[in-house]
Amino acid sequence: MCGIVAYIGHREAYPVVIKGLKRLEYRGYDSTGVALLNGGNLKVYKKKGKVAELEDYITGKDLKSHIAIGHTRWATHGEPSDRNAHPQMSGDGKLAMVHNGIIENYTQLKKELLSKGHQFTSDTDTEVLIHFIQEIKSSNQCSTEEALRIALKRVVGAYVILIVDEDNPDTLIAARKGSPLVIGVGKGEHFLASDASPIIEYTKEVVYVNDYEIAILKADELILKNISNEIQTPYIQKLDMELAAIEKGGYDHFMLKEVFEQPQTIFDSLRGRLDAKAGKLTLGGLREHMDMLKDANRIIIVACGTSWHAGLVAEYMIEELCRIPVEVEYASEFRYRNPVVGKGDVIIAVSQSGETADTLVAMESAKEKGAIILGVCNVVGSSIARLSNGGVYTHAGPEIGVASTKAFTAQLAVLCLIGLKIAEAKGSITGQRFQHLLDELEGVPDKVAIALKLNDQTKAIAAKYKDARDFLYLGRGYNFPIALEGALKLKEISYIHAEGYPAAEMKHGPIALVDENLPVVFVATKDRYYDKVVSNIQEIKARKGKVIAVITEGDQIISGMADDVIIVPESDELVAPIISVIPLQLLAYHIGVLKGLDVDKPRNLAKSVTVE
Ligand code: AGP
Ligand code: GLU
Repeated sequence: MCGIVAYIGHREAYPVVIKGLKRLEYRGYDSTGVALLNGGNLKVYKKKGKVAELEDYITGKDLKSHIAIGHTRWATHGEPSDRNAHPQMSGDGKLAMVHNGIIENYTQLKKELLSKGHQFTSDTDTEVLIHFIQEIKSSNQCSTEEALRIALKRVVGAYVILIVDEDNPDTLIAARKGSPLVIGVGKGEHFLASDASPIIEYTKEVVYVNDYEIAILKADELILKNISNEIQTPYIQKLDMELAAIEKGGYDHFMLKEVFEQPQTIFDSLRGRLDAKAGKLTLGGLREHMDMLKDANRIIIVACGTSWHAGLVAEYMIEELCRIPVEVEYASEFRYRNPVVGKGDVIIAVSQSGETADTLVAMESAKEKGAIILGVCNVVGSSIARLSNGGVYTHAGPEIGVASTKAFTAQLAVLCLIGLKIAEAKGSITGQRFQHLLDELEGVPDKVAIALKLNDQTKAIAAKYKDARDFLYLGRGYNFPIALEGALKLKEISYIHAEGYPAAEMKHGPIALVDENLPVVFVATKDRYYDKVVSNIQEIKARKGKVIAVITEGDQIISGMADDVIIVPESDELVAPIISVIPLQLLAYHIGVLKGLDVDKPRNLAKSVTVE
C-alpha cells in the first residue's frame, strides 16, 4: 500500500516529488512526508493527512535539494499521525527511509534492537527496518548499500524501500520485494515511483524493478544488483501512456471521468481482438495455452473485491459457454486453505492493478503446485502480469479513482472474449450463437453510451435516497454479481451499509430488514430469470420496501411496480452485466458527492492493496 516517489538529478527535487505524490495519493492518503538531501544536509518534513496538508505545513521552509524521497501512507502499523508518517529515520539521524509494505518479523527485529539500546519514536515496522540497517552498518563498518543487503536477507515481508544517506549526498538506494517500483530514466536524472504516473511527464523510458533487486542511483548512473550483489542489466522499456490519461480532463472527479470513459475503454478492450464482421476472435496472449484451456478439468479464478465480482460473472459465462467447471475464489482465502490444485486446472488471476498482494500470493502458491496461471490485468508490466504464464490485458487505461469502474467493465469484456474463445476451440458453442455473441459484444460500447445518458436521472434518484441507512442490492444469474458490485460501490463511496444478495436468497434472511425505509435496488434486466425477479420485487413491495429497478427498455411490468426505474438498452443476458452496472456506478457516485464525501479517495481505502 502507499505511494512512494523519489527524484535525483539536475532539477529542484521537491516540486517533482510533491507533484508525484499527488498523482499517487489514490494509493494511500492518511499521512505524507518527504526527505530532502542537500549536500550533507538532510531535512525531513512529515504530517498526518493528505498531500495538500503537508504542502501547507511546509510553506516557507528550506526546500532546496536535488535528491528527495516522498511517501503518502496507508497505515498498517501504527495509527496515522505525524510521528508514524514516513520518512522514518535511523537512530543517528543520518538515514531516512520510505517504505511501502509490511515487515512481518519486525517484532523480533525490534526486540533485538531494543536490547542493543535502540529507541523508537514511532509504532511503525518501517522505523525498525531503518534502525536495523543502521545497526548492521555500524557494527560491520560497511556501506549503507552493504548493510541494506545484509538486512534484507533477514527481513520477512513485502517492501519497496527508498533510502537517502546524509553521508552519501549524491546517491539514492532502492530495493523491492513484493511491492511495485518503477524507475524513470531521464538525461542526467532519475525518477522513482510506485507506478509510472509521476514519471511520464518527464520521461517515457522506464525500468520495472524486480523482486530482490537493489538499485543504486546517481543523477547520471543506474546500477541494478540482485540481493547477492551481482550486477543485473536494467531492461529499459518505453511507456505507452499519455499524460492526459491520468488527468481529470474537465470532470469533477476521476471516478466520474472513468465512468464516462467506458464506451471507449470497453471498445479498447475489444479492439484488435473482436472482429464481428469476420466472425473472428484473436487473443494472442492465450494462443499457446488454448489446448490446455479447452481440455481443462476446471478453471479457478482468483481475485479480490471488484475483480472478484468480474470473476463471478465469468463463472456464469464460462460454465455456460464452455461447459468447464469454474470456481471463483477470494485470493486471500485460496492461498491459506491449502487448496486442491492439480493437473488439468487452470488459474485465471483477475486484477486491475496487477499488484494486489493477496492475488499475487495465491498465484505463487498455485504455481508451486504446478498450475498454469493466466492473468487478466489492466496495468501493463505489473507484478501479476509478469508472474502469469499468459493472459490478456484489459486496456482500460490508468484508473485513478479508488473505486474501480472502467477496469471492471473492461474485465467483463475480456473475460467474455476468453469464454467465447475457449468455447470456439472446444466446439461447445454453435456457430450461430457464437456469431450472435460477437455481434452483441461489439454493440456494448454504444449501449453503455446510452446508459450513461441516464446520469441526470440517476442523480435525482440519488438525491431521493441519499439519507438511507442501509441498501439492499438484488439480482439473479448474470446480474447477481452486479448486485454485489453495486453494493460494494455504494459502501466504498458513500459509507452507507449496503448488501448484495441473489434475489431469491433474500427470502432466506435479509427480507427481515425490509421496511418502508429500506431502498432495494433490483438489477432486473430481461433475461431467463425475469419472471422470478418480478415475484421477488413483489415480495419487497408487499413489505413496503422502496424499489429502485434497473430494467430493459420497453419493460411495462416492473416500471408499473417499482418506485424508481432506470432503463437500459436491451442486450443478450451474457453481456447485460457490462451495461447494467453503469447506473449502479452512477448511483454510488452521486450519493457520495451529495453527502459531501471525497469519492476519489474514500476513507480507509487505497487503490492498490499491496499488503496481505
Ligand atoms: C474496488 O472498487 C476496490 N477498491 C477493490 O475492491 C479492488 O477491486 C480490489 O482491491 C482488487 O484490486 P485489483 O483489481 O487491483 O487486484
Ligand atoms: N508498514 C508501513 C507503515 O505502516 C508502510 C505502510 C504503507 O505501505 O503505507 O507505516
